[in-house]
Amino acid sequence: MKIGIIGCGTISSAYFEGARKTDVLEIKACTDLRIEAAQAQAEKYNCEACTIEQLLADDEIELVVNLTIPRAHVDVGLQVLEAGKHVYSEKPLGVDTESGKHLIETAAEKGLRVGCAPDTFLGAGIQTSRQALDSGKIGRPIAGTAFMCGHGPEGWHPNPAFFYDIGGGPMLDMGPYYVTALVNILGPVKRVAAITTKGFAERIATSEALNGLRIPVGITTHLTGTLEFQNGAIITMIMSFDMWRHSLPCIEIYGETGSMQVPDPNGFGGPVAVCPAGGDWEEQELAFPNNARMIGAIDMASAIRSGRTHRANGALAYHVLEVMCAFDKSSESGEHVIIESTTERPDPVPIGLNEWEID
Ligand SMILES: NC(=O)c1ccc[n+]([C@@H]2O[C@H](COP(=O)([O-])OP(=O)(O)OC[C@H]3O[C@@H](n4cnc5c(N)ncnc54)[C@H](O)[C@@H]3O)[C@@H](O)[C@H]2O)c1
Repeated sequence: MKIGIIGCGTISSAYFEGARKTDVLEIKACTDLRIEAAQAQAEKYNCEACTIEQLLADDEIELVVNLTIPRAHVDVGLQVLEAGKHVYSEKPLGVDTESGKHLIETAAEKGLRVGCAPDTFLGAGIQTSRQALDSGKIGRPIAGTAFMCGHGPEGWHPNPAFFYDIGGGPMLDMGPYYVTALVNILGPVKRVAAITTKGFAERIATSEALNGLRIPVGITTHLTGTLEFQNGAIITMIMSFDMWRHSLPCIEIYGETGSMQVPDPNGFGGPVAVCPAGGDWEEQELAFPNNARMIGAIDMASAIRSGRTHRANGALAYHVLEVMCAFDKSSESGEHVIIESTTERPDPVPIGLNEWEID
């Protein structure tokens, strides 16, 4: 399948590299508001650089990967759908539930598909965790924890302002990895209760490109809450850009007959460890390939050809967006927020595939 890329910034190289690993798709053209960024990637990865209008008018391109900043995801996605093409977006799906829903509904009306990052849950770490749970290694899941804590990306990202604008913050930036991994392992979320705050009114960039730039903080940067899943499990969650140092694990699940350590869901690999009741941690064999970013779009292209549902799909991304937005909503209202959407757990990745194979 011939595809196009819109947005040739920091993360785009990971996608161009991923496309080199597969025969399922081929990047025909790329574009960016900064045409020089598109030209640089086109030269490096041997495709065409063009304007967004030219890319959308190209009849050979069936699917567009949208790697723009969060605030532009829905607008760009709608343009792609209007042009009659499928869209696979970087996360989050949108910066609020209304626009995210509009994107999903527009695609459905047009008979087109929406895909959305993260695709890290297709890697060995989360697939092995899910397999361990599904095969009963810790019994019925009762509770768990999910922590993503740090001090924000202004120390390393060349253009960090968007992380402190609507659509950024630790929840919409990093939450997609955590909530998507949890939904993949445990199924959909029923309700959320949370308290959220903003630790600093402004941030100062120390990345080389913009050292000293003062960035106003327009979103909450420390979010704590509890998610109740439809299967009854409750997960305690902290997403923070306000913590210099901590010693909290990424994700742990506590079951009826044992506990499980789930690896960083912002990566594709392990380790995964299970501890049976009264025993000790046992590292699990990783029976799936790790792969890397772009595997979600490869899965989507392959699914379009065969007619099956793709795994990193719009319904999953919308459910995750609704859960993430529920944190601030619950904090503001002082009430539990019932999650209206639901989603299926994506099909597990088959065991025994080679790197970059997916079906
Ligand atoms: N940087 C990372 O490590 C990383 C990792 C995973 C996911 N992401 C996600 O990838 C997306 C992009 O992040 P990034 O770090 O590459 O940002 P970036 O600022 O480095 O790049 C974004 C690019 O999109 C372009 N752009 C913005 N609006 C556009 C529009 N309307 N039309 C065309 N081009 C447009 C910008 O000119 C820029 O080149 C975000 O959603 C982010 O959450 C980033």
